[in-house]
Amino acid sequence: MQPNAAPEKNPTNRINVLLLEDDEVDAKWVQRALKDSPTFRLTSVGTVAAALECLKSRDFDVILSDLHLPDGSGLDIFNALIKQSPQAPVVLLTGSILNEHHAMEAIHQGAQDYLIKGQVDQRALIQALNYAMERNKLMLMRDHFVHVVSHELKNPLNALQLSITMVKDGIIVDAKEKKEALQVALNSIGRLVRTTQTLLDLASMESRKYSFQQANFSLNALIEEMKQLFHREIEGKGLSLKTIVPDRDVEIFADRDQLARVFTNLIHNALKFTQKGQISIRADDQEDSIRCSVADTGTGIAPEDIPKLFRRFSRTGKTNTTQGTGLGLSICREILEAHQGRIWAESAPGAGACFIFTIPKAATPAAVPAASEGSTHARPA
Ligand SMILES: Nc1ncnc2c1ncn2[C@@H]1O[C@H](COP(=O)(O)OP(=O)(O)OP(=O)(O)O)[C@@H](O)[C@H]1O
Ligand SMILES: [Mg+2]
Repeated sequence: MQPNAAPEKNPTNRINVLLLEDDEVDAKWVQRALKDSPTFRLTSVGTVAAALECLKSRDFDVILSDLHLPDGSGLDIFNALIKQSPQAPVVLLTGSILNEHHAMEAIHQGAQDYLIKGQVDQRALIQALNYAMERNKLMLMRDHFVHVVSHELKNPLNALQLSITMVKDGIIVDAKEKKEALQVALNSIGRLVRTTQTLLDLASMESRKYSFQQANFSLNALIEEMKQLFHREIEGKGLSLKTIVPDRDVEIFADRDQLARVFTNLIHNALKFTQKGQISIRADDQEDSIRCSVADTGTGIAPEDIPKLFRRFSRTGKTNTTQGTGLGLSICREILEAHQGRIWAESAPGAGACFIFTIPKAATPAAVPAASEGSTHARPA
């Protein structure tokens, strides 16, 4: 999964470590252990008060703290640090096994790890700090994801509740208005079903459990099908549709339905964000791979938004208000990566957008492991 993560704090790639240790010998040991690694930059303090002052003025990538300090002990230290700097990963240092229960309590409250002094060498210390930062990053991503998902589910649920309540309580009596309220309820249900299904698909694709159904098929025929599917809607909006495909039929081995889903998502987006001009679908035969694109003459995308496009629930720039779950491009990327392909966008504001993807003509089974169980189709020669 790749939801929007917390902002990168340290563009220099240096890892800022805050050490809380009042024992000089122990503090020196940590300083020596980290001195050889050019990545770590250590700030050392001996009291909780001094640590809180440091945390007020700057961000640290990881905090390493003794559990006994002159102005605090045990969980109190951890709680004070986390209150001041809720997103920082904390690794605790305990003097002996006897104090392990304090460290365990802190782990239950969110500390990343604990080390028993004298039982770790330089390598184990560095490893613990690195793991703590990685785990913390995953936890922040998970928290962010849960927050966004609940928000995305809450909106349609609220609309659903409101519409049904208004009809049930007789607030709406006019037959036409009743119908409209029920249509809002139905739309909300549709949105909930789509979001849930896409999230389930994303999760199973990411964990490599999704059963892709691979088979040989003609790319030209698939694009023709897309044309038939969308031309009325595109022309109905006053836009023109152009398709450019190789003269010779291009055969590929992939999951046809999922590739159709990629095209559908991209064409839907092009339709959504284009008010005048043209939508073009293009496929190029590149011997071992194919290169496809869906281009439009719509709003375009600001350069700073391009890296965010494929994140979950990403709705960029002024397009924020447009209806959509913000999952379409994430699923496109999962599908293409599962087929060993890739997808990217090229655009400038006002100059339209072009989404390009490449995919090998024959994805190897290793890229799509579930296919061998789910697929009944033969692999190409
Ligand atoms: N062709 C395009 N032109 C301009 N902006 C685009 C285009 N395609 C995508 N975007 C931007 O990228 C965002 C993410 O697109 P994505 O398809 O993932 O989600 P969505 O269209 O909002 O919702 P859905 O899950 O229903 O597809 C869009 O909300 C829009 O801000
Ligand atoms: Mg979309």
